[in-house]
Parts: sequence; C-alpha cells; structure tokens
Amino acid sequence: MNIAIITGASSGMGREFATQLAPILTKTDEIWLLAKRKEPLDDLALELSKELELKKKKCKNSGNNNKTCVRAEKVSESQINLRIEKRRRHSRKNRTGRKCDPNGSLKRLRAHDIRIRTIAVDISNEKKLAHFAEVLMIRNPAISVLINCAGTGIYGAFDKLSREEVSQTVKLNVVGLTQLTKYCLPYMRRGSRIIQMASAAAFSSQADFAVYAASKAYVYSFSKALAKELKSREITVTVVCPGPVDTPFLNHAYGRYGKMNRLKKFTMAKPDKVVRKALADSKNKKRISIYGIPMKFAYLFAKA
Ligand SMILES: NC(=O)c1ccc[n+]([C@@H]2O[C@H](COP(=O)([O-])OP(=O)(O)OC[C@H]3O[C@@H](n4cnc5c(N)ncnc54)[C@H](OP(=O)(O)O)[C@@H]3O)[C@@H](O)[C@H]2O)c1
Repeated sequence: MNIAIITGASSGMGREFATQLAPILTKTDEIWLLAKRKEPLDDLALELSKELELKKKKCKNSGNNNKTCVRAEKVSESQINLRIEKRRRHSRKNRTGRKCDPNGSLKRLRAHDIRIRTIAVDISNEKKLAHFAEVLMIRNPAISVLINCAGTGIYGAFDKLSREEVSQTVKLNVVGLTQLTKYCLPYMRRGSRIIQMASAAAFSSQADFAVYAASKAYVYSFSKALAKELKSREITVTVVCPGPVDTPFLNHAYGRYGKMNRLKKFTMAKPDKVVRKALADSKNKKRISIYGIPMKFAYLFAKA
C-alpha cells in the first residue's frame, strides 16, 4: 500500500497541500491527514472525497483519458480492499500480543480511488507519536510522500512568553518534526519525497520571534543535511521557506504579545501559491523552495 502523509492538514498550508495533492497522486492508495484536532480533518476528508468523486464523474462523461481517470478504472475498490486486508492479516500474524488496534480511531472515507484517512495525533507529544509509529508498523505502508507542515510559534519578547509557549514551539517544530521523519523514513523507497515546512525566519535570527525563528533554522539545517544523506537512496527532501502567509497561524502567533509590522503585511503570500511552488520544487528535486521575490532577496541577503 502506497501512502502520502500530511501533517498540519486541518488548516492553512497543510490543508492546501492535501487539496492540491489529492487529485494528482496517481500511484497512491491512501492519504493520511494528521493534525491535533480531528473534526476539521474529517470535514476536509469529506470535502476532498466529494471533489474527487465529481472529478471522476466528469472524466467519465468527457471520455478524458488522463492519468487519474485511467487509474480509477484500473484499480477497483475490491482490489484495494483485498490488498489492505492481506497486509492486515500479515501484520497480525507477525505481531501477536500487540496493544494497538491497526485501525485505531482512524476513519476511512472513499475518495476517487484514493482513501483518505484522518488521524488526530499531538505531534508534540512523544508518547502519542510513538503510538502513531505503531500504527505505521502494523499497516507497513510504502510512504511515497511525507509533508511535515504542522507547526506553531508565538510572537513576543522571550522573557514575556510562558514556559509552556516556548516549550510547545520546540516540541512541535523541532522534536515532533524530527521524530516523525525518523519514524517514516524506514517506509520510504527510491523516488519518495519529503517536504519540510520551515520559514524565511530560518534565514536569520529574529528578535521577538526568537524561539520560532531558531526552530525554523533547525528545520532548514536538518532538512538540507538530510537531503544530502538521502541522495544515494534517491529520496528527495525539499525545505519550504515562505515569508508571511495568509493563514490562521498569524492570528495565533501575533494574538497575545504584539502586532505584525507593515513589511510583513506587505509581503503576505497566499497559501495556495506557496504550496503550488513547493510541490513543483519538490517534483523537480529542488532542496529549497522559496516563494516570492521579497523572500528570495531575504535569502540572498542572509547568505551574503
Ligand atoms: N503562516 C505563515 O505566515 C507561515 C510562514 C512561514 C512558515 N509557516 C509554517 O507553515 C506551517 C503551517 O502553518 P500554517 O500557516 O498553515 O498554520 P495553521 O493554519 O495555524 O496550521 C497549523 C497546523 O499545525 C497543526 N498543529 C498544531 N499543533 C499541533 C500538534 N501539537 N500536533 C499536531 N498538529 C498540530 C494544526 O492542527 P490543529 O488545527 O489540530 O491544531 C494545523 O493543522 C507551520 O510549520 C508554520 O510554522 C507559516
């Protein structure tokens, strides 16, 4: 079973990744959408499922023979179910006495010929991540795409932030992203792709956004090194470094201790554009994806 995993899929850019990827993933049996809250994930899964069904109908009616349609006809539901059932039986045989139910609380929805699975997991919590890793072990998928998009950050002077706010940023952006990548890597094959969401904040230190910028500098550095390590396995790693993007992230980040400055408002990008570029860059095996001229300048300026 081939799967794609997208974290932070309940909102903003993660949601956009899911929306843009679902119709074009032709060799994928399931998309696993991860976030902390389950409800928005289920809403998205339903929405995608409807859109894909509509697309399938349109393809049939127009006689269009694009790749997605061809696959819809080639692989029947019963074939996919049979394959999954086979894997499940195999896993049960090999792993007796496990505590973890292979289905867990996962909800499955039919979408085109791709299943969309929604999984609520707090990625900042190592125990919950370990439980997710057990689900991976039981289902034993091939992961063709991993998108680490979940992230958080609070704007404000370091001494004003609470210890909880500081540690949550590090636990999610640094530890969670690293551990999830580590858990997923054994399931990745030649041609698999990893997309890591950093930020233009990674390019230089930022007063009043110190922990967030440092966490993204970590993601940037880690991802570039990983790209080098995985080159021989033909797994590509693309680190995405947008400037301000119009998502709920900004309300959350600037909600408590400060206001966004004019420059950030001026350079604000749309999430669909950032994601489209990131997917194209990943497909073209680029190691860094930077959307928009202002952020490209910021990158060059930081490098100089
Ligand atoms: N927006 C920007 O200006 C901007 C710029 C550069 C980089 N980025 C980065 O882009 C990524 C996506 O951000 P966004 O702008 O799309 O923000 P967003 O709309 O706030 O989305 C954040 C996502 O992360 C998930 N998440 C938060 N805490 C989690 C946890 N503990 N466990 C699992 N999932 C968790 C959220 O899930 P729940 O809804 O369940 O909480 C949500 O799906 C982040 O890494 C962010 O740092 C954002």
